[in-house]
Order: sequence, then structure tokens, then C-alpha cells
Amino acid sequence: NSLSNSYLHDFKIGVALNHSQVAGEIPRVTPLIRQHFNSITPENLLKWERVHPNPDEYNFTPVDTFVEFGVENKMFIVGHTLVWHSQVPDWVFETENGEAVGREELLQRMRNHIQTVAGRYQGRIDGWDVVNEAVLDEGGMRESKWYELVGEDYVQKAFQYAGEAAPDAELYYNDYNLWIPEKREAAIALVKSLLENNIRIDGIGMQAHLKIDTPSIEMMEESIIAFSELGLKVMITELDIDLLPREEQADVELPENSPVPDALNPFTENLPDSMHQELADRYSALFELFKKHSDKIERVTFWGLNDGQSWLNNFPIRGRTNYPLLFDREFEAKPAFEAVLEAAKD
Ligand code: G3I
Repeated sequence: NSLSNSYLHDFKIGVALNHSQVAGEIPRVTPLIRQHFNSITPENLLKWERVHPNPDEYNFTPVDTFVEFGVENKMFIVGHTLVWHSQVPDWVFETENGEAVGREELLQRMRNHIQTVAGRYQGRIDGWDVVNEAVLDEGGMRESKWYELVGEDYVQKAFQYAGEAAPDAELYYNDYNLWIPEKREAAIALVKSLLENNIRIDGIGMQAHLKIDTPSIEMMEESIIAFSELGLKVMITELDIDLLPREEQADVELPENSPVPDALNPFTENLPDSMHQELADRYSALFELFKKHSDKIERVTFWGLNDGQSWLNNFPIRGRTNYPLLFDREFEAKPAFEAVLEAAKD
């Protein structure tokens, strides 16, 4: 009755956690994590703004607790993330006068950050999401500050610096919607640019923030195969399934502190049985796909332990009641959990 044991010969089963969950603040949580997961990723602790909020200030204490928890429990520890367009403090891209920083200086800052952070956990953090979300759904590079101020080779530089700082860790490119053909091609082009320049990359993380009916299993399968054909390990990262009305409908501006309309938050009391079943069926189909490709997939990581702490309660609007994960708000296993266990037996 353990997720990770059930998939021991297929792939690792990971979970994204925050500090309170590894610090033993919630009694039911620690045994649950130990029982079911053999890999952990910090959901937010290693993002630049958290770990390196000011030029000379690093906030390592909560990360240390996180890493110690993983080491003690012999878990595969993933570092998330070194270079991303989001959650980076403004000072990184500015001179002291508030002007845009030059390419060489910005690369120096990137290198220092990577050496300090990845270097500190060398030998303990086993794999790094080196670059997160650099390409667009429609193909091409995202025009982030990194892209604008360094140029397209910022990705190569990040991988080069990470390889120097963490020679024993695996290095990944991580992104969402990688089943969209145009985006898949853009990611493949990016990986090839690294390989052609002899820069190490070991794997690709396919974030899996899914809806109940999209994307199709076939679209995901095509990407798993395409990435594996590059010689890369494939990771399913950030897995969850959003059950609430989709973004187009939810994309409304609510006044501060106003309640979320029922239409956008339909299951505030509990989830109807029929929806539990739909969620279980979706998870079952996914894990059957992952098992089919267990020769390519190294790890499947859930983006959160239980429904109560999922980021999807606050996205795209704050204060909803979502049900995206395997454990409910009381830390009890849901029908979706049983479905994932069952899929392991096929
Ligand atoms: O902890 C503070 C709290 O003290 C404060 O009162 C509150 C007010 O806004 O904010 C809290 O921090 C929030 C944090 O989540 C913890 O809940 C941040 O505002 C919020 O921006 C942050 O969101 C995270 C988001 O990335 C942005 O970093 C989500 O938890 C996290 O799940 C999400 O994860 C990303 C991956 O890193 C990359 N892929 C997509 C994925 C989902 O967006």
C-alpha cells in the first residue's frame, strides 16, 4: 500500500513540498510522505526570490531542512529551479542606478547564483531543473529578461554553469504544455543546441498541469517518445489535475476580498462521487501510459501532497476549492489514489 513501492521497478514517485511539511509541523504529513514517495522537490523554497532575495543575502535555512529530510529518508532530491523568468527579484536585472544590467554582468550574477546554490548542495541534491519555461506554446523563445539582456544562449550558459557547480547532479530542462507540437519542437531545438555545443543535459521535465479531458493521452505519448529519442531521460513533473471551470471562464477580475462566484467554485463542500470517479479514471489512464513507457520515464512527481495545499486553490483566481491530487484535505487517500495503485498492477 505504498505508491513508490508499487512503482519501484518502473519510476520514482515524487512530491513537491513546502517547508512546513518537512519541518514536522503537521503530524499526519511526515509518515504519509515517507510511506508513498521516494523523491521530493521544493515547491517554492529554491526559487531565486526565496533563496537569494538580495545581492548578498542567501536564505538557506529552510532549504537545509528540506535537503536533510530528503537525505535522512534516502529520497531522490530535485532542485527547482535555477533560472526562470518568474520569481526573480528586480535587482538581478538592474544596476545600482536602476538601469538594465549588461550581458557580462548578468551572466556573472547567474554564475555566482548557480555556483553558490547548486554548489552548496553538491552531492545531496540529485537533479536540477536548471532552466524552467524558456520556450513559448506557439514555438520560439520566451522574451524574458534573461533572453532580452543575455540573448538566446542564456540557456546554454545556465547549463554550463550548473554542470560546473554540480558535476554529480543530473541536469534538466523543465516546461509546461510540452505536448503542444510547436512547443515540443521548440524544446527539441533548444536541447539540440546544447548537445551540439557539447553542453551536458540529462533529462527533460514535462510539467503536467492537466485538465480532466485535456491534453489527450496520445499527445502526451508523442512527446514522451520524441524527448526520449534525443537520448534524454524523461520526467513527468508537476502532476495535478484541475477540476474547476477552465481558465477562459475563470479569467475574470474579482474585486479584492470579494467571494468567488459559485459558478467558478462549484464544489466548496465536497466533490460529488461522479467527479471522484472521473478523476480516478483520468489518473488511471495516465499511469497506464507512464507504465507503458517506463523504459523512458525516470520519475513522476505530483505538484503537492494533498488538495488543501495545492496551488490550484489560488490559480487563476484566489480562494477556490480544488481537488487535483491523490489525498484530500484530511490527508485521506481518494479514489484517485486507489486507481493509481491499481494501475501499477497491470
Ligand atoms: O507564502 C506567501 C504568504 O506568506 C503570503 O501571504 C501570500 C500572499 O500572496 O503569498 C505566499 O506565497 C505564495 C506562494 O506561492 C506560497 O503559497 C506566492 O505569492 C505565490 O506566488 C506562490 O505561487 C507559486 C508559484 O509557482 C509561483 O512561484 C506556487 O505555490 C507554485 O505551486 C507554483 O509552481 C510553479 C512551478 O514553480 C513552475 N511551473 C508552474 C507551477 C505552477 O504555477
